[in-house]
Amino acid sequence: MEDSIRDASLSAVKVASEIAYSYVSEVRNQRLFPDASALSGLQHFDQPLPAAGTDSQQVLEQLHTYGSPATVATTGGRYFGLVVGGSTPAAMGANIITSAWDQIALMESSSPIANQLEKIAGRWVLELLDLPSEAFVGFVTGTTMAHVSALAAARHYLCQKQGYDLAEQGLHNAPELKVVLSEEVHISVLKALRLLGFGRSQFIFVPCDLQGRIIESAVPEFSDNMILVLQAGNVNSGSSDNFHTLIPKAKKAGCWVHVDGAFGLWARASREKSALVAGIEAADSWAVDAHKWLNTPYDCGMCIVRHKQVLREVMTTSAAYVETQEMWQAKDMLPEFSRRARAVEVWAAIAELGSQGIEALVDRCCLYTKMFAEGLELLGFDVLNDVVLNQVVACLPDIHLQRAMLHKVQQSGECWFGQTTWQGQEAIRLSVSSWATTEDDIQRSLKAISAAIDEIQQQAI
Ligand SMILES: Cc1ncc(COP(=O)(O)O)c(C=O)c1O
Repeated sequence: MEDSIRDASLSAVKVASEIAYSYVSEVRNQRLFPDASALSGLQHFDQPLPAAGTDSQQVLEQLHTYGSPATVATTGGRYFGLVVGGSTPAAMGANIITSAWDQIALMESSSPIANQLEKIAGRWVLELLDLPSEAFVGFVTGTTMAHVSALAAARHYLCQKQGYDLAEQGLHNAPELKVVLSEEVHISVLKALRLLGFGRSQFIFVPCDLQGRIIESAVPEFSDNMILVLQAGNVNSGSSDNFHTLIPKAKKAGCWVHVDGAFGLWARASREKSALVAGIEAADSWAVDAHKWLNTPYDCGMCIVRHKQVLREVMTTSAAYVETQEMWQAKDMLPEFSRRARAVEVWAAIAELGSQGIEALVDRCCLYTKMFAEGLELLGFDVLNDVVLNQVVACLPDIHLQRAMLHKVQQSGECWFGQTTWQGQEAIRLSVSSWATTEDDIQRSLKAISAAIDEIQQQAI
């Protein structure tokens, strides 16, 4: 019996490793987006609820046969949609090991290793991003949940300052708070605020300049019932608000300042780029993803809060069966109770790259982004943003040609990027965030764009 349980798991691990090995071996040659035949293969999964089980090997093989071809090859180096980092080798390996460990990162006694690596990875992240060493770093699913956590703490803090105990008295008679937001705020902040019960009438939107940065002369008079949300890395342009002047002003008035730094906060890791986010350390909370620019596998973000006692007051959970003498345990600091040990991957990526490797990754992506922008200009595009980080927004003078080109390139499977609207103009949008992207990938992608344009123009003659 003992052996058969072990053997069943071992055989699944072996098959899964072989499948992962085969996928990783091929991913750089795989189409970026699945073709029609791969997509139709997905019908295979549309079966009635099985009454009887299937051998684990067969279950896993179906994933490879019908699932692998229908993946978007985001780890292959030529995926420029959204802001997608791929996975560094150690981070991917750590993810596999973490699955075998299957730890509950709830508290020290539920997993000493998860607890230790959360502490160490958190400390390293603060050092890398040059944020206050007393801040708490919590590992959550992504930036959206980091916003939820930090903004819940912000609300609690501001109410407390006004002598109102939110935990005791609830929202009904709470002091009215306002949230000052950029007109270019990322949708995830709005979702987080909605989840927390904030309504649109509480929002004060501030207009932005042509790069998507808050116009400082347009900010309202700050007061101590306000949360100011700033942005490091606009999702289209990559630009950041001016933290240096805005944060001290808001803090002086008693605001809580939260920063959405999903990918842009990583500019702190580069000596060349850190000036773009100077002054960011003075905020009260920061949301940042590891699954974007740090290149860990998905489902990994960090909520960083300066006032950890406030976060604890919002998130604490206590029951006899999970009693602990330890302060700052994940169960008392974050929204989820049971959580996977996602800090293991953060620890692995940082251990693998070191601060120098992370700086090199950021600098390399920014350099390739500039190459992309220059290449696009040579192909007749107008680049619409100042290319300061890892984002390019560009358009062709002929919108029909642009749309046809985008469709053709996406169909080609050579590379993938999407579209957006920037300053009222329909445009293509590229983000270079992967450790696996090479200069050759940029040139190959530009060739695919050029070939698509040529083909469309030939057909039009
Ligand atoms: C600037 C910015 N903020 C927030 C988010 C949301 O992050 P997540 O998907 O990790 O919740 C994104 C994701 O694209 C982003 O680019």
